[in-house]
Amino acid sequence: MIIRENVLLAPLTTFGIEARAAWHISLESPDDVRVWATETSCESHFADLPAMPLGDGSNVLFARDFDGIILGVDLRGREIVSENETSSILRICAGENWHNTVEFCINNGLFGIENLALIPGKVGAAPIQNIGAYGVEIEKFISSVEYFDTIDKRFITLRREDCLFGYRNSIFKNVLKSRHIITAVTLALSKIPRPAADYADLQRELESREISNPSPHDIFEAVIAVRKRKLPDPNVIGNAGSFFKNPIISTEKARKFIEKNPESPRYPQSDGSVKISAAWLIDHADWKGFRRGAAGVSPVQALVLVNYGGATGKEIVELARDIRLSVAEHFGIDIEPEVNILD
Ligand code: EPU
Repeated sequence: MIIRENVLLAPLTTFGIEARAAWHISLESPDDVRVWATETSCESHFADLPAMPLGDGSNVLFARDFDGIILGVDLRGREIVSENETSSILRICAGENWHNTVEFCINNGLFGIENLALIPGKVGAAPIQNIGAYGVEIEKFISSVEYFDTIDKRFITLRREDCLFGYRNSIFKNVLKSRHIITAVTLALSKIPRPAADYADLQRELESREISNPSPHDIFEAVIAVRKRKLPDPNVIGNAGSFFKNPIISTEKARKFIEKNPESPRYPQSDGSVKISAAWLIDHADWKGFRRGAAGVSPVQALVLVNYGGATGKEIVELARDIRLSVAEHFGIDIEPEVNILD
């Protein structure tokens, strides 16, 4: 456990916003996690401060300095805990890099998560927002999630069905918010390739490569190519991926919206509600490529807000608020942030 005081947050987040945290504590083992939660956190200079776990900071926006403790989740390791002829259960510690884990799986004949290549962040963050891309959500492959409950002061293993996964949602964002430190995730992966190539962008990429019967490796490569083309690279320009969630609206509201906007992309849900593309809404409210100071809307993906260098968290939050209001005025639809905003 390494404890540092007054730490710059820009290098710890993909938005690269200049803010500071009062403390940073790196947790490198389950024992570090337990000692932090049961002993260190009770020390007088920590006791009254908020604490939050942080992976690679790829889904967070600090709108001001954080007068609290950032818990850097650095637990490492991957192991196959059980297997049979057709599948393996892989346990991955929370501090492992997500994309490297996807690559590890592909290289070791463990299939299912290849569509989730190149998503920034660490493994521990994946279940929190049920990461999803190109037709696949991680919930389908999660077997269990291990976390330390900072109120009950014990390690708990939650089975997938108890994680209450939804679109960009899980129990870790609701009932367990602010009381969990995720330490490991176990995935049930197939040894038999079952490529999912239905997502339109992915299909187009595979067609352009003249691949009609893709292997998981083909999907992996194609997803990487699409992401590189369609999403700004956080290593080059600060961003946290999709800033907003795609809104889900009622059947009745969707009928009226589609009547007026027949060309808009839409994704009907099993309960009759309809998911609408937030990128399309923002684009058609004329925000794509907009820039105010160092804060802007990506010119390649309208759903991504970017820091051109030196933007403050407040500037990004104000831009997000203006976009949200404008989309509501244009279309009568509320778009909610997907990024965890600390203001
Ligand atoms: N579109 C526009 N304007 C744009 C961009 C897109 O009109 O500037 C339209 C496209 O024509 C397309 C539709 O919006 O029909 C959807 O676009 P896209 O396929 O890029 O997906 P998305 O719904 O905008 C979601 C995820 C992404 C994920 C992609 C691919 C959310 C909030 N975002 O974006 O996830 O990579 O699908 O599966 O669900 C993230 O969560 O950080 C993220 C990047």
